[in-house]
Amino acid sequence: MHIVHTLADLRRALKPAALRAFVPTMGNLHQGHLDLMQMARQEADTRVKTGGMTVASIFVNRLQFGPHEDFDTYPRTFERDCELLQANGCDVVFAPSEKDLYPEPQVFKVHPPAELADILEGAFRPGFFVGVSTVVHKLFNIVQPDLAVFGKKDYQQLMVICRMVQQMALPIEIIGGDTRRAEDGLALSSRNGYLSADERAEAVQLSKALKSLAAAARAGNAAGQLDVPALETAAMVALRARGWAPDYITLRRQHDLSPVSGPCAEPLVVLGAAKLGQTRLIDNLEV
Ligand code: PAF
Repeated sequence: MHIVHTLADLRRALKPAALRAFVPTMGNLHQGHLDLMQMARQEADTRVKTGGMTVASIFVNRLQFGPHEDFDTYPRTFERDCELLQANGCDVVFAPSEKDLYPEPQVFKVHPPAELADILEGAFRPGFFVGVSTVVHKLFNIVQPDLAVFGKKDYQQLMVICRMVQQMALPIEIIGGDTRRAEDGLALSSRNGYLSADERAEAVQLSKALKSLAAAARAGNAAGQLDVPALETAAMVALRARGWAPDYITLRRQHDLSPVSGPCAEPLVVLGAAKLGQTRLIDNLEV
């Protein structure tokens, strides 16, 4: 496995490949990332007999952090990340410094449409999807992958990237990888490391709340009677009573994340974000 830091070294490492599969990350890898890496490896190996290449990037992207968010404290575990990537089928790790990726302030940015990017995560983290879209677009230009794998854990992010690729006619196939969960059901996340032991035991309640809402939505749809605002409010109230500070718990259409108010035959998804102590967790569940 090659580890490269500069664009020039990456271009040298990216020999002409029959197919290039890419997994962008911010490091501090857990099994969820490694699942994505394995998916990329498998796609590269099954789609072409020889010459399939996998690339992962590790870059904590300042552009997607708000002024009071955890950019400075975000865990950097580079050596361990590289070992894990090597053991999970990665050929090239691209880990640029800020100077390498943003040699001058990034003034050209990708602004995804408000109806997709200013709702849910975007409403609570203004500018987040501008930062994500800008860095992913830039990484796509640098790595020039044929396909890229993103986790469904960041459901809205995956949708924003899919729309960007479609709207900008980028010749890249986007694949969504399922969320990896701990045994109790908590979605794996780099930010779980911030939780105290008590908070970690409590953290599963977010996925439980989403599960209950998904079950209620299925039952309501089947009965032809679904009061979505009442279900969403009840879920938030229940979490608040346990000491959480929920930003949203909501039932949406999968295809554009637009709200649902009553029975709906379209594929749906429940999404939630809530703070437990100082740690903000997000999760989702397709209905
Ligand atoms: O999901 C992440 O880790 C980041 O948002 C990404 C896609 C690597 C962009 O910085």
